Amino acid sequence: MKLIICGKGGSGKSTLTAMLAHEYARKNFRVLVVDTDESNIGLHRLIGIDAPVDLMEYFGGRPGMKEKIMAAAPDYAKVKLIEEPWKFDSIPADYVSRKDNIALVSIGKIQHSGEGCACPMGMLSRQFLQSLQLAENDIVITDTEAGIEHFGRGIDEEADGILMVLDPSFESVGLAEKITTITDGMGISLYFILNRVNSEMSATIRKKLSKPGNIIAEIPDDPDILSTGLSGDAITRQYAPIEALIKEIPNN
Ligand SMILES: Nc1ncnc2c1ncn2[C@@H]1O[C@H](COP(=O)(O)OP(=O)(O)OP(=O)(O)O)[C@@H](O)[C@H]1O
Ligand SMILES: [Mg+2]
Repeated sequence: MKLIICGKGGSGKSTLTAMLAHEYARKNFRVLVVDTDESNIGLHRLIGIDAPVDLMEYFGGRPGMKEKIMAAAPDYAKVKLIEEPWKFDSIPADYVSRKDNIALVSIGKIQHSGEGCACPMGMLSRQFLQSLQLAENDIVITDTEAGIEHFGRGIDEEADGILMVLDPSFESVGLAEKITTITDGMGISLYFILNRVNSEMSATIRKKLSKPGNIIAEIPDDPDILSTGLSGDAITRQYAPIEALIKEIPNN
């Protein structure tokens, strides 16, 4: 199963990604986390795993990828970065960090001023997810950058389920409605996770959403989660709302 975690900036995507990774690992899944956020650099710490070398480097970094992309111009749909399907165990070892049942691949990070846009990363993210062939107990959890650019890049089309994190803000509700419209007809399940909410906030959000039935979990504002986020430590503890959430996502 391939899951994508999305939502507005700071809503809790990476925190949820790390907590889900550990919960699925406790349930004996082999978990591959894919970090497609080209800006933030802390996901590996939240998971408690070494930072891998960016997968982009395997393809020659930005110059190597640019060469491949320009060779296909103007028909960019023809760019083929990954020729063969990849499996959990065939990802080149230097480009994946592994610890127990959790592995992490990072597509690429912006490093320098003026280095260019994130289009090559977006292209690689999509092709990597598309190429992954999973065994029965494998799960892929993809953390995305804030907003909806990943939809524009077609990354979400490679998912079996999209988990949108909503913090209690008007902005998140608006984004949820937009994502509902975008995913209509895509044939991919859309789930909402309300984060940092109390019961009053939850009731307000439920009234505003056109599809409140898509809400599968509510996570309270938790000082423990916040202080772990500040400490730079991994967020590994078992957490009842996450255990309950997993039961709502059919594993097929
Ligand atoms: N349920 C929660 N209770 C308290 N703090 C939380 C909760 N969920 C997330 N946080 C805190 O909110 C902040 C943002 O979380 P996180 O980095 O996971 O968001 P994000 O959506 O990945 O952000 P970005 O858009 O920058 O990638 C962090 O400080 C995190 O510790
Ligand atoms: Mg994040």
